Amino acid sequence: MGTGCGFGKVILFNEHFVVYGLPAIASAIGTKTTALVEKQKGSGAEIKDDRPETPGYRSEKLAEQNESLRRMLKLMNIDTEHNHFKITLGGDLIAASGVGASAASCTAIARAFSDELGLGYSDERVNEVAYEGEKGYHGNPSGIDNTVATYGGLIWYKRVEGSQTMERMKLKKPVEIVMGNTGIVADTKIVVAGVKERKEKAAEKYSHIFENAAELVRDARKELEAFDLQKLGHHMNKNHELLQQIGVSCNELDMLVDLARDNGALGAKMTGTGRGGYIVALTPGWDLQERVAVEIERKGFQALRTTIGI
Ligand code: MEV
Repeated sequence: MGTGCGFGKVILFNEHFVVYGLPAIASAIGTKTTALVEKQKGSGAEIKDDRPETPGYRSEKLAEQNESLRRMLKLMNIDTEHNHFKITLGGDLIAASGVGASAASCTAIARAFSDELGLGYSDERVNEVAYEGEKGYHGNPSGIDNTVATYGGLIWYKRVEGSQTMERMKLKKPVEIVMGNTGIVADTKIVVAGVKERKEKAAEKYSHIFENAAELVRDARKELEAFDLQKLGHHMNKNHELLQQIGVSCNELDMLVDLARDNGALGAKMTGTGRGGYIVALTPGWDLQERVAVEIERKGFQALRTTIGI
């Protein structure tokens, strides 16, 4: 039996913009997906998905999950003609949009195969396989989600014409955040395609928004390094505005963002694909984190209390 795991993630700055080569900042969060791979007699491969989920997520993603597994098995050159592989997914990361659930599962599966078959995969190879798996979900992923799922930590990420660069960033100390779940399952492929279409139609407007996003993420990096959380929060708010302008937020996300800010969060924005999924609120200190989380729960939404920079 082979085992592996992958980190959940939160994108702090520039989801979507990262698809077009702009830098983005993301962090692993304290929850993970685990995979267990058992080689058995027979042929084929099956996934038993025991992850906790936002209702409907697993069934909605089933076809994409199968395509993702097919791609990974092919890249890893796994013989499914003479062996049957049972893959069991678990862990404490909720399978939902916005927390890197697909990437965490791909990373966990790659690691578990390496463990079961003694493939000796390096992190780099795991990341390559997970990226291939992500294509089953996203079509043309930037690679940020699988990179965080594989390496963990806080990263500065940039994709330039096929090559991907990652720089590790350090925070003076971990910072509490709250992630609020709209409960809406989003389709990354569709949301990313929507941005592309609108960007082509309104090239000038979008080029202005993209310039702002490029400048903003550079400022945010300096603020993270200087541990200036007030300014960082302000820039998270600004980043949310840019994401609204490219049409990837929605009423539920905007409502949760406002709720978090009204209850003292230093900043809040949607995170990940958008059009559903999660928001992230910057809530340093246990008291503030709890206050924001409780208000989100009082409105009937799920709140995840976690930290960045671990
Ligand atoms: C999804 O978690 C992040 C997006 O930027 C897509 C990607 O980077 O591939 C929306």
